[in-house]
Amino acid sequence: MPSGFPPFWEGMDRPKVWYQLADEVLQKGSTVLLLGAPDTGKTTLCHFLVEEALKRGLRTAYIDADVGQSVIGPPTTLGMALLEGPQEELSGLEADRLYFIGATSPARHLLPVVVGLRKLLDEAWCRGAEFAIVDTTGLVAGEVGLALKFYKVEALRPKHLIALEGGSEVEHILRPLWGREDLKVHVLLPSPKVVRRDQRRRQDYRLERFRFYFRGASLKEVNLQERALISPASPLRQGGDDLRGRLIGLIDGDGFAVGLGIIEDLHGERASIWTPLEELQGVRFLQVGSLVFSRGQGCL
Ligand SMILES: Nc1ncnc2c1ncn2[C@@H]1O[C@H](COP(=O)(O)OP(=O)(O)OP(=O)(O)O)[C@@H](O)[C@H]1O
Ligand SMILES: [Mg+2]
Repeated sequence: MPSGFPPFWEGMDRPKVWYQLADEVLQKGSTVLLLGAPDTGKTTLCHFLVEEALKRGLRTAYIDADVGQSVIGPPTTLGMALLEGPQEELSGLEADRLYFIGATSPARHLLPVVVGLRKLLDEAWCRGAEFAIVDTTGLVAGEVGLALKFYKVEALRPKHLIALEGGSEVEHILRPLWGREDLKVHVLLPSPKVVRRDQRRRQDYRLERFRFYFRGASLKEVNLQERALISPASPLRQGGDDLRGRLIGLIDGDGFAVGLGIIEDLHGERASIWTPLEELQGVRFLQVGSLVFSRGQGCL
């Protein structure tokens, strides 16, 4: 995707404290969780640490928990890429595993996000990762931010939590974590070079990522007796919802997403869906997401 980022770090701020942080957190077997409000430089710092880990020869699992401004895989999914050796580009990486959330914000999907991240992390260790880093969304405010981040720490049990904050945006999350024996908290100031993105730019980025993902998509017919339509997070209504235009996750037998689709039509036991997947062999379930694409968008 976004390519040609001429030498990635050109003009970027990499303060000395980042190198000291890298020396401390880049250990075999450890998980690092990044935390911070929107536009605090989480993803940039994450990329720095991934690069440093790879330079040190660590087989690194880069897990992207940002379902809106996703870097690995399409929006609405959590993505995990297992990396080895130097990488030219860390944005738009191909995912080794995807977990379907079905929405571009985690706010109403806390349980799937926390469970999905744990599954991706387990998968990373099973596949031989030596180090794992998890980048997160900027949802830190209020009770929802606290619940989401607190339970991410509970589920992922990171050795290091790196919080980027300019004021006291994440204090309510850090307070119940200070003093934890299994966790070291590092608080850093955001770089003065961070560039803010407004809602419009965020939406444009998401749409661009969806368009990229669905490029070349074609209509496929699915027999719903062979592949069940599921909606575990919000049961479908008895009378039947109008699911046309709805985003769906194409889920395999392990509960991971093989890819995404958009429902074009549902008639009886048959669904026609847009998907870039050439064949649906490994797909066992069609999981209904909450995002709806308008009819006018065709397949985007
Ligand atoms: N250390 C830095 N030096 C130069 N530019 C930076 C630095 N950190 C961040 N930026 C710039 O600021 C912008 C936002 O940074 P980044 O995407 O890392 O923030 P984020 O906290 O991950 O944002 P989001 O909340 O959307 O996930 C990007 O354009 C990035 O290039
Ligand atoms: Mg980010």
